[in-house]
Amino acid sequence: MSKKEFTFGIIKPDVTVKGLDEVNKVVADINASGLEVVSVVHRFLDRGEAESFYAEHNAKPWFGDLIDYMVREPVALMLIGGANAVQNYRDLCGPTDPSDAAEGTLRAKYGTSRDENAVHSSDSVASAQRELHFFFPEFQIK
Ligand code: CMP
Repeated sequence: MSKKEFTFGIIKPDVTVKGLDEVNKVVADINASGLEVVSVVHRFLDRGEAESFYAEHNAKPWFGDLIDYMVREPVALMLIGGANAVQNYRDLCGPTDPSDAAEGTLRAKYGTSRDENAVHSSDSVASAQRELHFFFPEFQIK
């Protein structure tokens, strides 16, 4: 049996602007996939924490647009657990651009555009650990 793993997800402002029912649909889809949304924190990011979180992109010409997007409405920060959670949640999200995403993936269902693509997923086990520590510093794998 696969080992239980934890990953980090964000439901982004293009979804949260539609209200809590829409956020809850995304959470329900993640749970229905066999993963478990262990914690959801629904709040605004401040500009500084969004800039730190996305620091790897700070030289990109679209960095300012990305930060404006991520602070304009609340986000839902998620701690997600399950077997192979990092890869399975990443697959459930689909590729960055929703127009490339397979039917049934979260970005195909909820994404608006490449820039406003509904959800974030950690891209590796190491990123998941770093990102979980950033937003859920009290979380420790038991
Ligand atoms: P994600 O892959 O979760 O993390 C980086 C984010 O930057 C990405 O989702 C998009 O929201 C955004 N992004 C990626 N490419 C572009 C782009 N070319 N222009 C603007 N935003 C982008």
